[in-house]
Amino acid sequence: MKPAPANPAEADPWITYKRLLGYSRRYKLVAVVTLVAMVTDGAALAAFTSLIQPIIDKLFALKSAYYIFWMPIWIISIFLVRGVATFVGGYGTAYIGRNVVQSIQQDVFDAYLRLPATFFGAENSGQQISRITYTTEQVAQASTDAVKVLVIDGATVIGMLVVMLYRSAYLTLALLVLVPAIMVIATVVSRRYRQISRRIQGTMGSVTGAVEESVGAHREVRIYGGQAHEAARFGDITHRTRRLNLKVAATSAASSSTVQTVAAFALAFLVFLGTRPTVINRISPGDFLAVLSAMGAMLSSIKRLANVQPNVQKGLAAAQDLFAVIDMPPEPDTGTVPLQRTRGDLVFRDVALRYPTSEGAALRGVDLTCPPGKVTALVGRSGSGKTSLVSLLPRFYEPSGGQILLDGRDYRDYRLNDLRRQIAWVGQSVVLFGGTVAENIAYGELSGASEADIVAAAEAANAMEFIRRMPQGLHSPIGQGGSMLSGGQRQRIAIARAILKNAPILVLDEATSALDTESERLIQNALQRLMEHRTTLVIAHRLSTIEGADQIAVMDHGRIVERGTHAELLALQGHYAALHRMQFQAPAGD
Ligand SMILES: Nc1ncnc2c1ncn2[C@@H]1O[C@H](COP(=O)(O)OP(=O)(O)OP(=O)(O)O)[C@@H](O)[C@H]1O
Ligand SMILES: [Mg+2]
Repeated sequence: MKPAPANPAEADPWITYKRLLGYSRRYKLVAVVTLVAMVTDGAALAAFTSLIQPIIDKLFALKSAYYIFWMPIWIISIFLVRGVATFVGGYGTAYIGRNVVQSIQQDVFDAYLRLPATFFGAENSGQQISRITYTTEQVAQASTDAVKVLVIDGATVIGMLVVMLYRSAYLTLALLVLVPAIMVIATVVSRRYRQISRRIQGTMGSVTGAVEESVGAHREVRIYGGQAHEAARFGDITHRTRRLNLKVAATSAASSSTVQTVAAFALAFLVFLGTRPTVINRISPGDFLAVLSAMGAMLSSIKRLANVQPNVQKGLAAAQDLFAVIDMPPEPDTGTVPLQRTRGDLVFRDVALRYPTSEGAALRGVDLTCPPGKVTALVGRSGSGKTSLVSLLPRFYEPSGGQILLDGRDYRDYRLNDLRRQIAWVGQSVVLFGGTVAENIAYGELSGASEADIVAAAEAANAMEFIRRMPQGLHSPIGQGGSMLSGGQRQRIAIARAILKNAPILVLDEATSALDTESERLIQNALQRLMEHRTTLVIAHRLSTIEGADQIAVMDHGRIVERGTHAELLALQGHYAALHRMQFQAPAGD
């Protein structure tokens, strides 16, 4: 699975644009009112510019009483209308823009909840975070600032053109020669922007990722003296970000100054045209000044319009990246067979696994039968494939060969949600959520559990002992990711969660590794009771905890090399016996 299409530039910007518009379809009424307000905004400015002619020619030249009375009233009226229009236009675009951003953020987040485990291995988490925090903001800019400029300044340009044509068609038509020059500048600028914007998004992700890693590992950084290294790495990334941003600024500044130069030429040209002997007597000072002001206003609008390209481009590049993620195929779930409660008859047949991100195979030809209600222990040295094997069960990864049968049926036939409901899991690294103890034990679909059930589960996991001592008991907050708890306490909460789930298949991956011997023994008793009617897969390095298992499978380099009960394996004098001897080495001379 790729995190994004190979080259998002290939996506048609028009399709992206239309899809973005689709998000604002729900706010049609607001959009119409906003558009009207923005057009009014531009038109009001044009109307005022048009008043320059009577101000010059009628007010001051003729001293007309009519104009002397009405002019102030017209000016105030125009600016009152414009004031209201500016407010409505500004607020309306922000309203739609923020709503669109919220919808897109939600869609990307939903995609994250749907995407398979392989997606999270293929891209660093900073990229995934900044997609929601930064990239969506780029879209916000495209859909607010840019639209605002496009419409208001678009209306202004048209309004000014009307004013100019009305005041002097001759001067105006002569000036239109300059339009193509301005168009060329805008096109060149926009192309460059799109290229740079896309690269900036990438570096933003790296910035977030680097900060996240260094802050998360603040203890390791200090103990191993990694400050200089982290600072250099971060400096490297921000250096790249700054260079790209400066390229954007350079492009933007260059386009502004080019447009200004063109404007100066236009003005000079206008003066030249207006002062030709045949023309100078036909045009009144008011007309000339009105055309001059209109052209000035029009050019500053055109300048803004030329500068809006980068925002639109940035927004489109951002939206393309977001849509690429939203469109990624979700976890494959082709299963149709409903599953209420499995008997727990689990068979691995010649199973192989190759992680998409690594070369070698993590599992090869694993054959293992886990009979219903029995305990299967997996042992073996680190990296031998124990966690990989159990990760196949909830379909975090798809086996690259072989078959897994549950109750005699290929496990992919079952609906994914049903399959996962059969599994309670205590992982090798415990993951808790911000919130209270109770919320963490009764997480997700368990959230309806009664307090009595939660307490019972916590009791069985030997966790009530410390929960009772917390200031608000079960309802004490545990900090982000459970940071206010010790490793062993976290593990016991995870065990309580698994107990509460009461699922027919139980996976315990080093579930008690962080506990002291006494707590471990207490929990072992609870787990023993829990395992009674379930198919259990337990992974442990401490062999004393799995001696009672119905069968023990020894893994090595992705294969099962020995299988049997504790006594059988000891008698075999192979891998297991060797591991056992190392852990229970009798004192010399015994
Ligand atoms: N997400 C992953 N992507 C790529 N390779 C992986 C991934 N997870 C594990 N591996 C590789 O697969 C092999 C088996 O790893 P696994 O986690 O199953 O070992 P393990 O037996 O559980 O070890 P431990 O006892 O240390 O937990 C290792 O060589 C590891 O490098
Ligand atoms: Mg493991």
